[in-house]
Amino acid sequence: MSQSNTAPTPPSAPQPALIVLAGATGALGLLIAHQLRRRGAAVRALVRPESSHKAEAESLRLQGVEVVSVDFSNAPALTAACTGASCVVSALSGLRETIVDAQSRLLDAAVAAGVPRFIPSDFSADFTRLPEGSNRNFDLRREFQRRLDQAPIQATSVLNGMFTDLLTGQAPLIQPGIRRIVYWGDADQPLDFTTMVDTASFTAAAALDSTTPRYLRIAGEVASIQGLRTIASNALGHEFKLLRVGSLDFLANMIRLTRTLMPARNEVFPPWQGMQYMHNMLTGQAKLSEPLDNARYPDIRWTPVQQVLAGLK
Ligand SMILES: NC(=O)c1ccc[n+]([C@@H]2O[C@H](COP(=O)([O-])OP(=O)(O)OC[C@H]3O[C@@H](n4cnc5c(N)ncnc54)[C@H](OP(=O)(O)O)[C@@H]3O)[C@@H](O)[C@H]2O)c1
Repeated sequence: MSQSNTAPTPPSAPQPALIVLAGATGALGLLIAHQLRRRGAAVRALVRPESSHKAEAESLRLQGVEVVSVDFSNAPALTAACTGASCVVSALSGLRETIVDAQSRLLDAAVAAGVPRFIPSDFSADFTRLPEGSNRNFDLRREFQRRLDQAPIQATSVLNGMFTDLLTGQAPLIQPGIRRIVYWGDADQPLDFTTMVDTASFTAAAALDSTTPRYLRIAGEVASIQGLRTIASNALGHEFKLLRVGSLDFLANMIRLTRTLMPARNEVFPPWQGMQYMHNMLTGQAKLSEPLDNARYPDIRWTPVQQVLAGLK
């Protein structure tokens, strides 16, 4: 039998999955890109032309992310940019022109390019059961959700409650200066908190998992206002007390008044929007239903609220 002198071709290494990421220059998007690279994915970031020279875009390139400058209103270019992806992840943030309009164009492009899966930019408390009008930003998400659920693509939303990171600044609940936990309504209502890094890590794992359901619900920690009092006291080494400002109806009236006096219609997070978020959480209407999906990717270690609050020391 004659022997071939041709060396056997080594089996070619499997190509890493390609994830297309929109909003990659944003706070959460940068973290998702990093976590995707950590998990070995090839990442293509779709960046608006005016942002493709920003420091964030450069930092993406340094991490091995393919940065594609694309005009979101150019459908053929957006479709070409989505081609080959196993999942399109959106971490866009904005109002109607972004959450409904730009995200819909991205969705159309993903479908046209034959991408099988889409993760929308939800990353929030559970807005699915909230009444229309109770939170402007959630109304926009539900409007996009209706389009997404009609589209021939597998969709997965990641719902994570409030970013724990906000407890050290933007969210007014913890007031270290006066050593108070400020709240409205019931101090025993459970609230969901997840750090941005943990949300990004979970989202990256979900983007690479072709078996995800329509919704994934995660909470790094579930804590009531009473629970936050203990956690803040332990984290900062002195006793916090509760300060109940009033009922949830009182908060609703404050929201209406603030919105009338300071409408700031073009801001994504004006003060009344943050207050709407607090109202949705404190009523329990936006509480994530159990069981949570925290254990889906066992390598993820959830950051406790106390660890984040320790940063206030
Ligand atoms: N659960 C919570 O507590 C919580 C808190 C904050 C945010 N979030 C959510 O997390 C997600 C990401 O928010 P973020 O804070 O990371 O946002 P961000 O830092 O403001 O970044 C927004 C990203 O969207 C891009 N973008 C905005 N408008 C666009 C448009 N019209 N067309 C194309 N790209 C556009 C921006 O690109 P450029 O660089 O070109 O501007 C940027 O990459 C959002 O869904 C947000 O609601 C949740």
